[in-house]
Amino acid sequence: MSAPRLFVAGATGYTGRSLVEVACARGIEVVAHVRPDSARLDQWRARFEGLGATVDASPWTTEAITTTLAQHQPTHVFGLLGTTRARAGQGLGSAVPETYEAVDYGLTAMLIDAAVPLTPAPRFVYLSAAGVTPTTRNAYLAARARVEAKLAASALDYVIARPGLITGDDRDEARTGERVGAVVMQGLSALGKVAGFGRALHRRYATMTGAQLAAGLLTCTLQSDGDEPECRGRVLTLEAGTLHDAAT
Ligand SMILES: NC(=O)c1ccc[n+]([C@@H]2O[C@H](COP(=O)([O-])OP(=O)(O)OC[C@H]3O[C@@H](n4cnc5c(N)ncnc54)[C@H](OP(=O)(O)O)[C@@H]3O)[C@@H](O)[C@H]2O)c1
Repeated sequence: MSAPRLFVAGATGYTGRSLVEVACARGIEVVAHVRPDSARLDQWRARFEGLGATVDASPWTTEAITTTLAQHQPTHVFGLLGTTRARAGQGLGSAVPETYEAVDYGLTAMLIDAAVPLTPAPRFVYLSAAGVTPTTRNAYLAARARVEAKLAASALDYVIARPGLITGDDRDEARTGERVGAVVMQGLSALGKVAGFGRALHRRYATMTGAQLAAGLLTCTLQSDGDEPECRGRVLTLEAGTLHDAAT
């Protein structure tokens, strides 16, 4: 396989910015996507280009995203996007409505559709969440379940990561409150039914920092020796503070 070239959608997020940093530090080629209507576009450009990444500010339209993926020919596409209800009232200026349907599902689905026609096909790495099931009634988790189903129905080689809470001293907790609530409540519900509740809860829903998650994602989805295992359908969950293949 050729040298990795990552296309990171959601590069400005807590996880995304760490992924760009960790990958650049490892000498991996990175294209960091920043929405063109970001009030901080110039700051993100300076930060990411300073790390050695290329910044892509294509608008979130099917035509533009399809064109830019065809131009960059990434080996790996990372979908690290997500909104919160709190963002809707923050006047962040995105052309895309701050809803789970439009962002969490809609933009990720657009990215998947843009990746499918590429030759060679890239590996798609999707940041889902702990607690996702096909039948969940939680809107946040349901959007993730739909993305996972879309990936499974696609021809792409893909990896799904379902971490618990992603947090650390370096993040704005207010924006993540509802995600934390969704993940924890789903986890309590699921794990309350099994023995060893406390220990299992700790292992699967322990927090990770963005940097820990980014390093784990890279390790699980890139092999430095060029001998990559078959990844199609691989699902990673958090166990004892690191990402592991989910038990089937
Ligand atoms: N945080 C957690 O505990 C947790 C746990 C499990 C899974 N997850 C999932 O993992 C993913 C990344 O999480 P995170 O905490 O790193 O996210 P985050 O810091 O909130 O970043 C979200 C990203 O999505 C982009 N985005 C949001 N609304 C947008 C819109 N309307 N138009 C265009 N881009 C938009 C943001 O772009 P701008 O910066 O330009 O606004 C940013 O790059 C999300 O899908 C999240 O749900 C999170």
